[in-house]
Amino acid sequence: MLGSSSVLVNNQENFDSEWFAGRVVDWQQQYGRCGLPWQGADAYYIWLSEIMLQQTRVATVIPYYLRFVDRFPAISVLAAESEEMVLTYWSGLGYYSRARNLHSASRIIMQQHDGEFPRHFEDILALPGIGRSTAAAISAFAFHERCAILDGNVKRLLARYYAIDGYPGEQKIEAMLWEKAEALLPEKNVAIYTQGMMDLGATICTRSKPECCRCPVQAGCVAHRNGCVALLPTPRLRKKLPERKTTFLLLRNGSDILLEKHTGRVIWGGLWCPPQLDIQIPGDIESVRVYCRQFFNVEVINVLALPKFTHTFTHFKLHI
Ligand code: ADE
Repeated sequence: MLGSSSVLVNNQENFDSEWFAGRVVDWQQQYGRCGLPWQGADAYYIWLSEIMLQQTRVATVIPYYLRFVDRFPAISVLAAESEEMVLTYWSGLGYYSRARNLHSASRIIMQQHDGEFPRHFEDILALPGIGRSTAAAISAFAFHERCAILDGNVKRLLARYYAIDGYPGEQKIEAMLWEKAEALLPEKNVAIYTQGMMDLGATICTRSKPECCRCPVQAGCVAHRNGCVALLPTPRLRKKLPERKTTFLLLRNGSDILLEKHTGRVIWGGLWCPPQLDIQIPGDIESVRVYCRQFFNVEVINVLALPKFTHTFTHFKLHI
């Protein structure tokens, strides 16, 4: 029979926050992502990268980021430009409210912070488009402040590490995860630790097929010990997404196509798009002709029905 001291060897007590942070920091330095164009840059560049990285992968962001900073190298340049110009450089990256918020935040920074990106967490959090986790990431990377992040990847990592059952988007579960994230924060090396948490969540503790055998904190992971990694985090009870239908008209004249500018803060607000018909027009050539004559003052010669496709947004599905 094992003595009680032997039984304690694998107890959670051995894997305290200092052990955890030390493992994450060492792992980040050896295996984490380094050399990203915004790493070590000033607060404006870090802010921009964190906004672009919301919902978007690093590899997708890099070329957009490089073009953006080349065109808008300082907050003052961004603030002086039109929203339309900023959207042009965001075009293709999606979630366009991020670009609109970034632009309006740049004007607030010019007016309220003398053009300097604010240093205080509360001031950062007050800017449009910046939530608690993004404000913490900026504070940690740009100012080396001890602030905990809790993005989607870190939620998954902590839900597994502590075997927290329940959908992480639920307020009670999220509050528990924030508590854990705060408690694990190290006294020093906060920027490396924060990058390490992001990197671990994105590359090792992935949603499907996590690579536990390469995880630096595997020894302390309760879900790993209990064999329930694949069950955590608890998925959201999926309600069926509402579905909408629309028709795009691709009106071509030689190599020109007709675009309309969407106004207001709707899904494609500020962007140039093919005309969109929220009514169903009959697909026969004559109806399309009449419609185009009436609304766009153009004479249609040939009509071709293009294949249908479906795009899923966060809150609805659009059949196009
Ligand atoms: N996702 C959000 N912020 C990130 C960062 N700084 N590096 C890599 N992935 C991220």
